[in-house]
Amino acid sequence: MSWDKRLNVLLIGGGMISQEVVIPTLLQERMRGIVGDLHISALNSGIIKQCEELFRGGRFVGYPDPAKYAADDNQPSMYREAMGKLGEHGLVVVATPDHLHTDMALEAIEAGHDVIVMKPLCLKVEEAHKVIAAAEKRKAYVATDYHKRMDRAVRLARYRVRRGDLGEMLHGHAWIEEPKYMPLKFFGLWAEKSSPFEYIGVHYVDAYYFITGLTPKRVAAWGQKKFLPSKGSDAYDAVQAVIEWNDGSVLWVQTSWVCSEKNSAMTNQGLQISGTKGEYWADHKFRNLHILTDDDGFEQINPNFFKHYDSWEEDGTVEYVGYGFESISRWLRDIHSIHVETEGMSEKDSLAHREKVFKEWEDGQRPLPRQALIGVAVNQAVRLSLDNNNAYVVFDDKMYPKLSE
Ligand SMILES: NC(=O)c1ccc[n+]([C@@H]2O[C@H](COP(=O)([O-])OP(=O)(O)OC[C@H]3O[C@@H](n4cnc5c(N)ncnc54)[C@H](O)[C@@H]3O)[C@@H](O)[C@H]2O)c1
Repeated sequence: MSWDKRLNVLLIGGGMISQEVVIPTLLQERMRGIVGDLHISALNSGIIKQCEELFRGGRFVGYPDPAKYAADDNQPSMYREAMGKLGEHGLVVVATPDHLHTDMALEAIEAGHDVIVMKPLCLKVEEAHKVIAAAEKRKAYVATDYHKRMDRAVRLARYRVRRGDLGEMLHGHAWIEEPKYMPLKFFGLWAEKSSPFEYIGVHYVDAYYFITGLTPKRVAAWGQKKFLPSKGSDAYDAVQAVIEWNDGSVLWVQTSWVCSEKNSAMTNQGLQISGTKGEYWADHKFRNLHILTDDDGFEQINPNFFKHYDSWEEDGTVEYVGYGFESISRWLRDIHSIHVETEGMSEKDSLAHREKVFKEWEDGQRPLPRQALIGVAVNQAVRLSLDNNNAYVVFDDKMYPKLSE
């Protein structure tokens, strides 16, 4: 039977980012002819039921099935059953807590599928190298969803820096901070295993790497535990790191997840970088647009991230636009184009084609595993520094971090 030119997708997750960004993106891409069957695997059927209620008419198969399993009956291995049903043109999207990414990505690659993983790719450099090796062996496409790479404000910085308009990099400052409900309500189960740096700060590490092409040389980090311990959590309130890059430039990254819940937007965020010929300064929270209503008060809106608009494709329907959408859709369409280009080729030719295209992409802008390694390495270095009284951490030639002597 000939292929209908649609990818069959398994989303493993079903939590916050799945409900807010990934599922709407996949449904929109189905409407546009890119996605075929959609399977969603979550920890339990209670989460599947939430997704069914949020996306009525979404036509997806849920695992575990709410008709057969109790809402709180956890089925942590059931994604394997779903993976087995994907067939030849399959894509797996991993949107589970960070510590589960590696095994799920490796299993998907081994089963012959292409993969999109929410950032960070993994927690440890050793794990990232396993993903790199598996992807190279199977010629699998594995993208990490570093959505800042799609933000026009960041793309502009890359374009101007790469043209040399700012000269040589001197230093920079990035800030990204979220409200208290994130570690308390949304990530109560895994906040202690992570930190605001590992969870959101890594976006700006990747952004600096994406913009400049520089690689990190030395890291030191600091953290505070003041508010969350008073709520019974041993997680960090805030973490800051200073990263020295291989040209000697320095980036300071400031992160927190105990901001006021009354903030005018969910995330404080921005980036300033200076070079020998100029500077870039962007508030990525306040994009000069606010809405004030009796119901919700004063809200500063980032129209670039993931916003609902009246669709130009069909009046009366909603279109999702922004870098949250693009940063799933772009990788999805990469995978789709590779499947279309290799359709009908012998296995040998198909693998050779994949190898050639992925090599070119790897040297470019896409967050394929060798590029995603940078964020993983800095995350691991930050953790090592925090655990060792803010000591300097350096990297070897494979980006393994170690305490500086
Ligand atoms: N790119 C971004 O902007 C962005 C934003 C938020 C989160 N994230 C990343 O996305 C990932 C998920 O974040 P989230 O906010 O949705 O977290 P979450 O805790 O809300 O959801 C995680 C989901 O994983 C599912 N899960 C856990 N174990 C499972 C298993 N064994 N099998 C199947 N499903 C399982 C659970 O059903 C849960 O709903 C994290 O890695 C996070 O760092 C990325």
